[in-house]
Amino acid sequence: MFDTMTVTKAAAGLFGAFLALLLAKWAAETVYHVGGHGDEPAYAIEAAEAEESAGEAETVSFEELLATADAEKGEKVFKKCAACHKVNGEDATGPHLNGVVGRAVASVAGFGYSGAMQSHGGDWTPEALDAFLTKPSAAVPGTSMSFSGLGKIGDRVNLIAYLQSTGG
Ligand code: HEC
Repeated sequence: MFDTMTVTKAAAGLFGAFLALLLAKWAAETVYHVGGHGDEPAYAIEAAEAEESAGEAETVSFEELLATADAEKGEKVFKKCAACHKVNGEDATGPHLNGVVGRAVASVAGFGYSGAMQSHGGDWTPEALDAFLTKPSAAVPGTSMSFSGLGKIGDRVNLIAYLQSTGG
């Protein structure tokens, strides 16, 4: 039969195994929680949702978007234009853009516009600017403005709000 010593050893062995199991389970859970609730996956989901709502924003009317646009952010976006455009009335590679909102297309006297821009016609309404800045080469085929475009509507309305603030 079992003597006390054997029973004690067996119990100790069992208890040890049980402890090891608990420890492993705890370790696994800790790792799982870090993976499941850490910053990265949650952030990725938030980022994806933010992009989705940014896409949905395009169905909101353009006027509404422009009304809530942020000219200060637009000034930062303008850095992409500043290599060629000034807002102090001086022309550079491109014509000056202060007062461009509402200005007739290709109307800066003395600036050498492309034939494409000259024959484009119309005024630079916020909507016309939005279309042009989305993809210049598509809105005014043959334009000499070599700029690929601003893909985000948020950037475009903020930029247009900034241009509006530069006055005439
Ligand atoms: C690489 C230089 C360059 C960059 C960068 C550039 N532009 Fe231009 N832009 C031009 C040139 C050149 C023209 C004249 C185009 C033509 O005559 O076809 C022009 C024309 C324009 C016009 C028409 C102005 C008018 O008087 O009819 C607008 C509006 C304009 N750019 C806005 C922008 C904005 C806003 C940005 C930044 C998002 C930008 N451009 C970036 C070179 C540039």
